[in-house]
Amino acid sequence: MKLDLRLTMVASLVRPGKPIADIGTDHAYVPVYLIKNGIIPSAYACDVKVGPLDNAKKTIEEFELEDKITPILSDGLISVPHDVNDFVIAGMGGELIAKILSDSPWVKEEGNHFVLQPQTHAEDLRHYLLSEGYEILKEDVVKDKRHLYIAMEVSYTGKVVAHTESDYYLGKLPKSSSIYKKDYIEYMISRLDVQYKATRKEDIKALIDSLKEALS
Ligand SMILES: C[S@@+](CC[C@H](N)C(=O)[O-])C[C@H]1O[C@@H](n2cnc3c(N)ncnc32)[C@H](O)[C@@H]1O
Repeated sequence: MKLDLRLTMVASLVRPGKPIADIGTDHAYVPVYLIKNGIIPSAYACDVKVGPLDNAKKTIEEFELEDKITPILSDGLISVPHDVNDFVIAGMGGELIAKILSDSPWVKEEGNHFVLQPQTHAEDLRHYLLSEGYEILKEDVVKDKRHLYIAMEVSYTGKVVAHTESDYYLGKLPKSSSIYKKDYIEYMISRLDVQYKATRKEDIKALIDSLKEALS
């Protein structure tokens, strides 16, 4: 199985050797890829909708992984067994990912590991994580067919450290990445510019200025 650039990035952040729960699995490409490549031993492939879960079951059967991947119909983490410490939540909005985590406080166990790939509103997800005792270990960014995708490797520590609004926008993306500097920060600035023009709020202007500084 070959993953696209976005899912390759997601798979690269998964902790090797540990079973995962893939939330919003749809086609189950990530768990199938990780098991077929010997990166993880087993997985729960979870989705809130029957159609996507049927897609997952088809892929699991095609790759003969019925003994290693358990499909589960679950809204977020609600019906996921508590014997897993590694979670992948990819391809959803940042606010939905934050809601899925906050609806299942049992995942807040020290050392638990998360790979999160928000399609939108990454800043809201970072805000949630950093206010709730999660630590963002690292982030990555790829550009595929003119779209930017980011993914985060996150651990639960229980410690809340003070952060600024610009931390939520800039994240822990690699400072050496030209995609990060040229495209990601400029995209964030353009979104904030729209808000500033509509509201003329000084705090938004200050935020834009701090992101511009990070560009240089
Ligand atoms: C765009 S697909 C992403 C599939 C895959 N994770 C990826 O990144 O390519 C989003 C999937 O999340 C599922 N989903 C949305 N809300 C969910 C929730 N609350 N709990 C579990 N799955 C959910 C949808 O049914 C859909 O299959």
